[in-house]
Amino acid sequence: MNKSAKLMAILSAAVLFAAASPSGAQNRPASRPVNLIRLNGGKFIYGVDYYPEAWSEARWTKDAQMMQAAGINFVRMGEFAWAKMEPKEGEFDFSWLDRALRILGAHGIRAILGTPTAAPPPWLYAEYPDIEAVNKEGVRYRFGSRRDYSLENPHFLAAARSVVTALAEHYKNNPDVLGFQIDNEVGSPRCYDSDCLAAFHAWCRAKYGTLAALNHDWGTIFWGQTYSAWSQIPLPWNTLYGVSNPSLWLDYDRFFSDATSDYVKMQADILRRIAPSKALTTNEMGLFDAIDYSELNRQIDFVAWDNYPMLAQDPKDYFAPGLAHDLMRGSKDNQNFMVMEEEGGLPGWSTFWSRQVPAMDYRLWAYQAIAHGADGVSFFRWRTSRYGTEQYWQGILDQDGVANSRYKVVARMGSELPKLTPLLEGTHVISPVALLVSPDSRWAFHIQPLVKGFNYDGQLALFYDAFRRKGINVDVIFPSDDFSSYKVLVAPSLFVVNPVLVSKLTRFVSSGGTLILTYRSGVKNQYNVVTKETLPGALSRLAGTEIHEFDPETTQQQTIVDRDGGIYPATVWHDILSPTTASVLAHYGEDFYAMRPAMTLNGFGKGHVIYLGTQSSSATFYDRLTGFADGLAGVHRGPVLPKGVEMSVRQRPGEKLIFLLNYTNQPQTVSLDEATRDAFSGDPQKREVKISPINLRILIAP
Ligand code: GAL
Repeated sequence: MNKSAKLMAILSAAVLFAAASPSGAQNRPASRPVNLIRLNGGKFIYGVDYYPEAWSEARWTKDAQMMQAAGINFVRMGEFAWAKMEPKEGEFDFSWLDRALRILGAHGIRAILGTPTAAPPPWLYAEYPDIEAVNKEGVRYRFGSRRDYSLENPHFLAAARSVVTALAEHYKNNPDVLGFQIDNEVGSPRCYDSDCLAAFHAWCRAKYGTLAALNHDWGTIFWGQTYSAWSQIPLPWNTLYGVSNPSLWLDYDRFFSDATSDYVKMQADILRRIAPSKALTTNEMGLFDAIDYSELNRQIDFVAWDNYPMLAQDPKDYFAPGLAHDLMRGSKDNQNFMVMEEEGGLPGWSTFWSRQVPAMDYRLWAYQAIAHGADGVSFFRWRTSRYGTEQYWQGILDQDGVANSRYKVVARMGSELPKLTPLLEGTHVISPVALLVSPDSRWAFHIQPLVKGFNYDGQLALFYDAFRRKGINVDVIFPSDDFSSYKVLVAPSLFVVNPVLVSKLTRFVSSGGTLILTYRSGVKNQYNVVTKETLPGALSRLAGTEIHEFDPETTQQQTIVDRDGGIYPATVWHDILSPTTASVLAHYGEDFYAMRPAMTLNGFGKGHVIYLGTQSSSATFYDRLTGFADGLAGVHRGPVLPKGVEMSVRQRPGEKLIFLLNYTNQPQTVSLDEATRDAFSGDPQKREVKISPINLRILIAP
């Protein structure tokens, strides 16, 4: 698909489903793309995560007034309120939530309601202590936290079905309820209890059919682990030395991801059947990798996720939230998404986060989300809790409830968004470059982490940042996605491959794409078993190179020397390449394999494959490598961006919105090579665009 065909596909899919879907639940596909702005009556979803149940009702009107005055039109509520919604088994009370919704609705604020299953009530634990999950060591958790139950426990599931049904029935016709968030941050803890074990056995049976097939594909001949009954198969729990068969372990990771998707589906099916006009989502966690989000997201209508830039990384690493936004967008066909929890204050549970950031940073991070395709942002949380585990986790308001600097910044953004909304609607992020995330490889590297210093996501970031420094939009996609619209595809350390993926990559390159592969690719088959072909196994022909030797050493002073004589550190892993049809782009500089190839280029069909046998700690190295790939593939770089400035583009036919975000404390200038207008004032803009400190500019280009 070319770029404009891709844009048209996204646009035509992204209708508000209520208008597009026929009458009944039976006719509806499992998940329907949602235009979030249209879902919210033409308004950008701008809100807060609100816990009215923790405050006196006398305060609710003041809250709603303050929200409205700040331009807030949305709240997410209820995801931990099971004990209040169902104080006794089978006795439901939504009256308090009805009152909150009425007050909010009167102030132009609509809601997504969380199904409250993230926090089962004490009476459920008391009645069925076995709902608690069991950890790897076989120890059952004890009541007192949240999301600590086994996803496979029948008592929990029955109670969850019952409360979700009651919630859906109660709110199916409420116009102030836009939709439901299923549970809260699903994906942990992994389960090791007996219900989970039984479910894993059923999953294995469905996958392999016979024990003979499982024994063969898992290579259970090793250490004499051949199974003669399904019931003998263990979970990768606390074995001696902490080891389990990597094949069993990878299937357990897949099983747990599937079990989580099935759990979301269980709730989604109830909600769809009873409340077909409501949009469904669940709040996800960016780079969190226990779940294959590309699979789970088939169950929901739109992606929502929780963005905590300070929690995730050094706040100076301004590209990092972008990578997570792009992965989240990519986990559901690059449809626009929303941030369900956007950092709105200092994080902290038992201890405070060590550094306060200016309130303006929160606005900039929220705009960064928009620049990457968010059509909704909801700040966590409206007001810092007086109670419980999160007393130190700052909301917009502090416990005193008075307007503070963060509130003023939120209000500033709230006053800007109505102007921006018509410009945003129908625009999408379109990228010439994609990073391929392989959930199988990510899991397999957790199981066998290769060497100290290896970090799968870290490698994604090295490439991601290099493209972003050039102002190039990047998609982050999954193996089941269509690769054909991209000019450059980077698939770092593609450790676990299967024939379908190899043939997709082959098609991509044959028809003109540029593929970048790196060390430890093609090592394992889909059963997490090492290939018996010469490395990089099924990718050898594409790469035009073979690997007969490698050096896993990560501490020595190895270097990579490119054809121009540039010397860069080669810090993680060293595949010593033996090109068959490829030419050499760089060699190693030190040790017994000095002058042996470190990076190759292979022409294949109409395209190219670059194979990099190592990893560098030098950003300049990745700038040069991606620049070379862009040159081969005809990807145009953006303007020169000062350090600390990010550019991201959203577009619709005939119009581009250019976001320039300045994360530094200094004014910055970017020189664009096209005529633009300022999105807020509409005024024509000089080519030299000035951006004030911790601020952004949004420009419209034809
Ligand atoms: C999120 C979670 C919220 C809240 C927040 C701050 O991960 O969804 O409920 O706990 O972190 O800790």
